[in-house]
This record gives sequence, C-alpha cells and structure tokens, in this order.
Amino acid sequence: MPAVPALSRSRVLMAPLDAADRLVSLALGVARELPPNRYRIRVGAGNRILFNHVQHREMGVGFWLNRIGEGAIQLDSRILDIGCGCGRYASVLAGSRFAGRVEFTGHYTGVDVDERMLAWCRNHFPPDRFSFVLVPMRSRVYSPGADAGAPARLDVPDASQDFVFSVSLFTHLLHDDVEGYLRETARVLAPGATMRMTVFCLDDLRDAGALGGRWSFRHRHGPASIENEAYPEAAVAYERAWLLDACARAGLVEARVLPAPGQSAMVARAPV
Ligand SMILES: C[S@@+](CC[C@H](N)C(=O)[O-])C[C@H]1O[C@@H](n2cnc3c(N)ncnc32)[C@H](O)[C@@H]1O
Repeated sequence: MPAVPALSRSRVLMAPLDAADRLVSLALGVARELPPNRYRIRVGAGNRILFNHVQHREMGVGFWLNRIGEGAIQLDSRILDIGCGCGRYASVLAGSRFAGRVEFTGHYTGVDVDERMLAWCRNHFPPDRFSFVLVPMRSRVYSPGADAGAPARLDVPDASQDFVFSVSLFTHLLHDDVEGYLRETARVLAPGATMRMTVFCLDDLRDAGALGGRWSFRHRHGPASIENEAYPEAAVAYERAWLLDACARAGLVEARVLPAPGQSAMVARAPV
C-alpha cells in the first residue's frame, strides 16, 4: 500500500475527493481560506480524507499559543518552518489577531520539497511577511521526481532566526537529512534561540505501549528504524540517545526529547 502522500498525487483518486470537499468547504464558508483537500490529505489531517477542516486548523492554534506562552517566540520574531507543507502553521500567524488586538509582524519562512504546495502558499500569504522556498531534495514519498541531492543548504542567512521548527518532518527523514537539517538549524539560529522538531522517539513509543499497534518500526536503515522498506521515508523513528548525539554533533546545546502523545518534541538551543 503506497503511503498516503503518494496517493494524494493521483488525479483519478483526488478529483472526486476535491470536488466533494469543495461543496463542504463552500457550505462552511472556508473554501477560500483553506488549501485544497489533496494538500490537506498530503500533510495529514487526523487521517481523514474528508471533513478534515477542523483537524487541519486546530493543530496550529494550540502550537503557537504554547510557543508564545513559553517565550520561544514574540509577535515580531523571525521564524523558519522546515517542511512547511501547505502552510498550516503559517495560516495561524497570518490570520492571527491574538486577543483581537495584536498581530504577527515578524517574518515567517517556510521551506519544503513540494513545489505545488509552495506555489499555493505563495499565492495565499502576504509576501512582505511570508516567504516560501523550495529545497531540491528527493524523498520517495514527498518528492519522488526530484534528483537525489545532498542535504540542503538553506537560502537563509547565518544567525538570522529567532525560532526554527518542524512538525512531522523528521518523522520522514533518513539520518543524513536529519544531521544536515540540524547543522543548518545551528547555523541559522540566532545565539541562544530555540529549535523544536517533532520526532518519532523509539524510547517514548515503547514507554507509551505504542509499538506493535499502529507502529512497528521493525526495519533498520542505518541508525533509523523504518516502517516500510519500499517507502522508507513514510515513517522514520530514532532512539533518544542518537537524536541527542545528533544535536550535539550539530553544535546545538541543552538538547532534550520531550515525550508527547503521538510525536515527541526534540528541543535545543543555539549556543550563546
Ligand atoms: C507530514 S507533512 C507536514 C507538513 C507541515 N509541517 C504540517 O504539519 O502541516 C511533511 C512535510 O515535509 C515535507 N518534506 C519531506 N521531506 C522534506 C525534506 N527533505 N525537506 C523539506 N521538506 C520535506 C513534505 O513535502 C511535507 O510537506
């Protein structure tokens, strides 16, 4: 069974789903705001192929309220989202009028390997505060047509970002790409600034009794454990010790992997 993101590129499968979704979106009054259903399915919305509007929206709202609450970002922060997809996290910042008064005045940069989702984002976000950049890397799941390239050097200046994050990206990256993105994160973060990447941490999945149910991660691929040998990037997990060592090798400090339902959060800082 091919991974869902691969299926979401099938016009035959997606045309009827997109058409049905358009009717629902018009009835709900959200047809202009949300990306097409095929993109919402591609980035994952609670495993729903229809009626996923609320699932698509709600993750971003809770995420930003928590980051503001813990002081990781301010409303004028410079933010880098690696694997931004169709702008789920950008959309909360763009539409935000927290408490009805204040709005995001910083700069958000989203990078991804999927040019179609990036094109949708460029057409739907104000370009003065939101940039969307293609990274030409190959993933058998997300960018099967791209040439296999070296881990990306991002077109982002050194020490320029107040917060770097990814949601459900490292769960699709083999180890060279994890190491490459951690090095890039260390390079672009301002001194003392924070990174937060969600990961599948094998130790946390074991502790939560989640191995053997939906996830097995029974195949090895270097230091990674993968679910599906035909589509290695479909789901990728690592031991906590390897993740923490990878952060240290990249030059990040105070690294922790925090257990959470579903995906754990790997948090670290750039040295001061
Ligand atoms: C599960 S989706 C999550 C998207 C977004 N973070 C969200 O939560 O809505 C994974 C995203 O990572 C992107 N991706 C996969 N491999 C990548 C890579 N090597 N570099 C950058 N983005 C990548 C995919 O195109 C996809 O948009």
